[in-house]
Amino acid sequence: MDYAKLISAGAREMRPSGIRKFFDIAAQLEGCISLGVGEPDFKTPWTVRDAGIRSLEKGRTFYTANAGLAELRREICVYLSRRMGLSYEPAETLVTVGGSEAIDLAVRALVNPGDEVIIPEPCFVCYDPITTLTGGVPVPVVLREEDGFRLTAQALAAAVTPKTKLLIFPFPGNPTGAVMRREDLEPIAEVLRGTDVIVLADEIYAELTYGGGHVSLASLPGMKERTVLVSGFSKTYAMTGWRLGYACGPRELIGVMTKIHQSAVMCAPTTSQYAAVTALRRCDADIEAMRAEYDLRRRMLVSRLNGMGLPCFEPQGAFYAFPSIRPTGLSSEEFCERLLHSQKVAVVPGSAFGAAGEGHVRISYSYSISHLDEALRRIEHFLQELR
Ligand SMILES: Cc1ncc(COP(=O)(O)O)c(C=O)c1O
Repeated sequence: MDYAKLISAGAREMRPSGIRKFFDIAAQLEGCISLGVGEPDFKTPWTVRDAGIRSLEKGRTFYTANAGLAELRREICVYLSRRMGLSYEPAETLVTVGGSEAIDLAVRALVNPGDEVIIPEPCFVCYDPITTLTGGVPVPVVLREEDGFRLTAQALAAAVTPKTKLLIFPFPGNPTGAVMRREDLEPIAEVLRGTDVIVLADEIYAELTYGGGHVSLASLPGMKERTVLVSGFSKTYAMTGWRLGYACGPRELIGVMTKIHQSAVMCAPTTSQYAAVTALRRCDADIEAMRAEYDLRRRMLVSRLNGMGLPCFEPQGAFYAFPSIRPTGLSSEEFCERLLHSQKVAVVPGSAFGAAGEGHVRISYSYSISHLDEALRRIEHFLQELR
């Protein structure tokens, strides 16, 4: 069989993830230190694990409603009102298999072949391939370091055309750690208000901001009706393996996303949904404790990177640093390959997050201080070797 011929054009065109490649090599290298993975090193808070275990003990092992447990959807709305100042109802809420599924559903619910999807880059790796698979046309907009890797109204206005269906709006940003402050959001909202462009606001790192609280684009006047908010439990509650996220947005859109979700996965994992109710009710203190620890690591990492000659933008959110490796004269891919082979440290080339990421590498600080310290020593050694 000629499988290459049989594969759909959309699947063939999908950009493969540039992150995995390095981890596959790193996993086989004895003594390798990885700073690559974008997942919390903390265990899920015990109260949440306990709630999951109890749900199993009680025999809650059945499908839930397609859109998710009514109790959980109510709790998500309470949480969003309490912590983000947003006003959603359960009927505007869909529980998904991670934020990842919510992103996929939003794109599939909205994008027709030929529709344009504005994607600020560098960004998380899934937006471009999912758009391509749907037949949409990714329109990258470069986020510049001199703008704090924020999206500017000018750059957005220049990218909008009559074919624009969707704007992906991922802040706090992976891989840059950029955040959009209230004063940055207003001009963006102003560009969007007179259009039919829908915003997919990926706010999965909303609880991980260091210089002030997160402001959601949907909280600005006129924005809720044109925004699908995506978030989840992976980063906030260290629950990556539980595979649980959600989307909130206009009823009609959430309804269509629920229809796709029903056919594709039926419902999100039941045990995870019961555990998530407890996370939302009882874990504010855990969020604060994890954030404080990330902040400590962030400060250490940024200061050490700057000190060793890798100029590092100060990330204000998420758990990544995105230093420039331009002083080395290497491409980001060369830097990562040589660092891996010479010092057995795995970081991710900036180019994995779109062409705009070239000249940088992504270093995750979701690792212990001692792990980071050893990796930084090795990176410094590597830089000395290059000189
Ligand atoms: C920006 C961003 N959005 C969404 C996700 C998806 O997370 P999950 O599917 O675990 O909720 C990630 C994971 O790394 C991410 O970095």
